[in-house]
Amino acid sequence: MSTTAQIGVTGLAVMGRNLARNFARNGYTVALHNRTASKTHDLVKEFGHEGEFLPTEAAKDFVAALERPRRLVIMVKAGDPTDAVIQEFAPLLEPGDMIIDGGNAHFADTRRRERELRERGIHFVGTGISGGEEGALHGPSIMPGGSTESYDSLGPMLEKISAKAKDGAPCVTHVGPDGAGHFVKMVHNGIEYADMQLIGEAYQLLRDVAGYSPAQIAEIFRTWNTGRLDSYLIEITAEVLSHVDAATGEPFVDVVVDQAEQKGTGRWTVQIALDLGVPVSGIAEAVFARSLSGHAALREASRELAGPKAAPLSEAAAFADRVEQALYASKIVSYTQGFHEIAAGSEEYGWDIDLGAIASIWRGGCIIRAAFLDRIRAAYDARPDLPSLLSDETFAQEIAAAQDDWREVLVAATRQGVPTPGFAAALAYYDALRAERLPAALTQAQRDFFGAHTYRRVDREGAFHTLWGGDRSEVGA
Ligand code: 6PG
Repeated sequence: MSTTAQIGVTGLAVMGRNLARNFARNGYTVALHNRTASKTHDLVKEFGHEGEFLPTEAAKDFVAALERPRRLVIMVKAGDPTDAVIQEFAPLLEPGDMIIDGGNAHFADTRRRERELRERGIHFVGTGISGGEEGALHGPSIMPGGSTESYDSLGPMLEKISAKAKDGAPCVTHVGPDGAGHFVKMVHNGIEYADMQLIGEAYQLLRDVAGYSPAQIAEIFRTWNTGRLDSYLIEITAEVLSHVDAATGEPFVDVVVDQAEQKGTGRWTVQIALDLGVPVSGIAEAVFARSLSGHAALREASRELAGPKAAPLSEAAAFADRVEQALYASKIVSYTQGFHEIAAGSEEYGWDIDLGAIASIWRGGCIIRAAFLDRIRAAYDARPDLPSLLSDETFAQEIAAAQDDWREVLVAATRQGVPTPGFAAALAYYDALRAERLPAALTQAQRDFFGAHTYRRVDREGAFHTLWGGDRSEVGA
């Protein structure tokens, strides 16, 4: 029995417990600590056979159980609880030791913590961990930030416990310094929201416009999961839609209250994108759709508003094929927007994030894992400076081939009164990108009219203002 541990985990709720078990199953001696000591002892009692655990109760004993440089993983709620645990342990650590925050922290908090602890010689490693409790136990996708030195020490251990892609590659990479890891995890969650919203819209269209039952739609998703939409979220959607509620015998999806909640990471993705000036319209519509669903009183008060009631079409199977095209095209747009935000964050904060590497580690373990991430990785590996995923020839061709059906699906949804904000936002983004001229010219003119905010001209350099209140002559600004 070792007397020192290569890694320690404090915070033994489900995620922390499973991460500790994962390290132990992979041959590491794991020191354990939890504010409520009984959780520590329960873990050893139930899973002690899985590997070497060093259970501790007092903070100082937990720290003393760690080999140097100490590697201390925090798995507690984001925000103040994380700060509290850092305050408890940092004074007990020495220069060169590492604190790894595996929670869903806001990257700005991680940048602050990393800066403060760096002044004490302690490495702070904000680490996105995706895959839920199953992933934590069997192999998550891991997105560590922090110093290169900390990754040199932690990297081999994280690679061992991470998920492995189909080609055997570990789903972990050193994302970049300070808050880069938590930033990328935030965008992962934003894409997750968009993916889930698009799947939801496809489901509602198949239900209300094609007239399929949840069980039939489950089969359609199972078929889609064998093709280019092959992904964890499509797979679990089929499972959820085929599930029958034991209490009522009804389709499970029909007994769930249709008000979506959100812990906040998707919301952060949109807030930060607004600050960075990155149009993540698909992710934003997904966040707003969750918010709208939660306004029960407003929805009740709006129930009688005039509008069409969807009636099943005759050619349901053909419509389902169109919905697949619309879903795939919209998914490409959501990932395009998400990767644009990562590139913009990398530029803003000087992180030099490798977009191909991010696509690569999202191929396994995480909630958005999907076969098509292989293609995204290939696109960025071929052209690291790719301005947009839509600039990749293969994706551009696929979306070109999908767009007629995509447009037809939106026509049907609009005519039948089925809300598809995600599909519509994705198509509007696509059409805006390829537009010869945008109404932004009129916006600039309006701004100059009421606020003298000036405008640029297409035919010469400089900024100009029109004397709208006078002779409407133009002056250089
Ligand atoms: C993951 C998940 C996870 C997320 C939960 C709840 O990557 O394992 O994204 O981090 O917190 O799924 O997220 P919401 O409450 O925001 O939907």
